[in-house]
This record gives sequence, C-alpha cells and structure tokens, in this order.
Amino acid sequence: MKKDNFEIAVFAGDGVGREIMNEALKVLRLISDRRKIKLSIAEGYVGGSAYDLFGVPLPQQSLDLAMHCDAVLLGAVGGPAWENLDYSLRPERALLGLREKLGLYANLRPVTVFDELLDASPLKKSVVQGIDIMIVRELTGDVYFGQPRGVTKGQDGKRKGVNTMVYTEDEIARIAVRAFEIALSRKRNLLSVDKANVLETTELWRTVVTEVGRNYPEVTLKHMYVDNCAMQLIRNPAQFDVIVTTNLFGDILSDEAAMLTGSIGMLPSASLGKDSALYEPIHGSAPDIAGKNIANPLATILSVALMLRYSLAMPEDASLVEKAVAEVLKEGFRTQDIYSEGNKLVGTEEMGNQIITMLKQLLN
Ligand code: IPM
Ligand code: MG
Repeated sequence: MKKDNFEIAVFAGDGVGREIMNEALKVLRLISDRRKIKLSIAEGYVGGSAYDLFGVPLPQQSLDLAMHCDAVLLGAVGGPAWENLDYSLRPERALLGLREKLGLYANLRPVTVFDELLDASPLKKSVVQGIDIMIVRELTGDVYFGQPRGVTKGQDGKRKGVNTMVYTEDEIARIAVRAFEIALSRKRNLLSVDKANVLETTELWRTVVTEVGRNYPEVTLKHMYVDNCAMQLIRNPAQFDVIVTTNLFGDILSDEAAMLTGSIGMLPSASLGKDSALYEPIHGSAPDIAGKNIANPLATILSVALMLRYSLAMPEDASLVEKAVAEVLKEGFRTQDIYSEGNKLVGTEEMGNQIITMLKQLLN
C-alpha cells in the first residue's frame, strides 16, 4: 500500500530562511490537504539561530529529529553575526554535520531556465535557451571531510594549512551508480568531471566511473577536466545533460551553473542518502535582505517539488508545483532578484500567494 503518512523535519535556519520557508510550507500543506496525505511537520533549529539558543549549530535534538523523519526541508544558514566563531561552531557546520550524519552522499542540483527569465541571465538568450542540466555532486567526501585537516605550526614557527582530497572506490562507485540511473531517466548522456591530469584521487574517480559505466551500456559516458567544464558551462551549456563530479568541484560548478538561469534564487536541490533526504535551495541566507519580505521563495518552493518527487512518491504533484512556478512567472510576477521592466514586482509573501492561487487552479 502506498504510504500516506509522512514526517517532515523543517529547519528554517538563518537570514531569509524563515521567510522563504513560510511560503514553501504553504505549498506543502496545500498539496497534503488536497491529496489527503497526513504530514507531521516538526520544526527545529540549525545554524546560527541554533548557536544562539544552544551554543552549537547542530543541536542533538535537531539531529535526532532529522534522523527519524522521512525528509528534511531546510531554508538557509549563516550570517555575519557568526562569521568570527571557531570553525566548529559556524552555522555552515550544521549543513556539513547533517550531510555527514544522515549519509547524504548524492546532491542533485537541477539547472533549468524558465523561458520567462531568459532576460535575467547574464548570458545571451541563444546560449541559455532550453538548457536542462542535472548536476550530481558527491556530498560526503573529498576535501570537505578528508583527514588530516587544519592549520598547524611547523618547527620553523611558520603556519601550515592542510586539507586532504580523498575518495575511496566505494564512494566513487555509489555516486556513479546514482548518476547513471539519473541519466537513464533523462537523455542518457553522462559527463564525469575530474582533474585526472593532475590529481591521482580523480584519476581513480575517472577509472571507477568508467568501470561502473560498463553496467550502463545505454548511457553515453564522457569525461572532462574541471577547468574545461567551467569554460564549457559558459560557452555552450546546452551540450550538458547529467554531470557527475566531486564535492568541491560540484560546489563551484553548481554556483556557476546557477547563474546561467539568471538568479541563484531559482535553484532547488535534493541531497539523498540511503535512508534520508534533505531538500534546500542552493542559495545562502542573504542576511542583507533578511526580514524585508523581498527574498525569492521559488528555490525553496521548487525544493518542495523535489521532495514530493523523491521522498513522497508524488511525481505528478511535483510537476504541478513546477508548472505553477512557470505559470506565475508567465503572468509576470517577479521578486526583485529576477525583476525586469514591464513585470510586476512582488515580495516574498505575495510570490508565495501567487503560487498558491495558481496551484489551486492546477489541482482542480
Ligand atoms: C553549498 C554551500 C555549502 C558547501 C557551504 C555553505 C558549506 O556552498 O551547499 O553549496 O560548500 O557545500
Ligand atoms: Mg556552494
């Protein structure tokens, strides 16, 4: 029997997190009401707001909550108030801790351009029109977690900083399998991005991805060095279907790819593990515009769509949410980050309300 009862952990986080989360939750509640799905939504603290209350960015009770839920929805973390804290206490550690503890090794960052926003892209329309890329970023390995790490003082009294890029073949193989499976459901082109001409770790990456590829003869696998990929994303992004890459390269390339779409405020993400999943916009907490009701809630709303698709087995409703976003953009509603002349400038809350109105029509 299809499951109709889900527990969702919600962490609004810092900065604009609360505002964008309010709008995303409206969408989630509307869908669950209409589809008679029982959702238990439990809110918790992570990031700087958790530090202020509990002295740590990822309190045990938040971690416990995330661990026993079906899925986590997260706003954003970070801000100037916490920038000078020790590394281990910074808001970003909450994200890294959740990724590590929940084993969220596969980070999916879909990059699509809504036709209505072609003008918002800094690149020519002809370059970005129709792009549809899925970046699959490995999320629990690489220099982000490798040991040894840290800053030490050598015998000469000079400081030395060390981070370690490390991947085991099992870590590479499991992300490769995910990426090949995703490629199978799309245009069947997979590009693996590495720096195999310089880094042994990614030479292994290339070898293992190729080995895994033998089980997927229907998928065309290619390899590219990361510097070239950074260039190709600007030169001809339409050539890409699925990109699989390491944690650090994926971090950088996904920000670059986000900008093709005009605003980082548009892009959702899903981080998937064996038994857990976390959904969040790829943008940060934007402290400069927090509390002003001007942040773009669409990336978080689109993250709800990903949650419906990957965790709640409701792919049709996921597509409806995505359609609602496209339709509202078609009607000319824009938050300030994607505004261009001739359109209707709206705030965070009104954008959320427009999505709700549209979704109600689509659900009828
Ligand atoms: C991201 C962010 C994080 C990362 C930071 C906030 C730790 O940039 O999710 O892309 O580097 O992974
Ligand atoms: Mg990043």
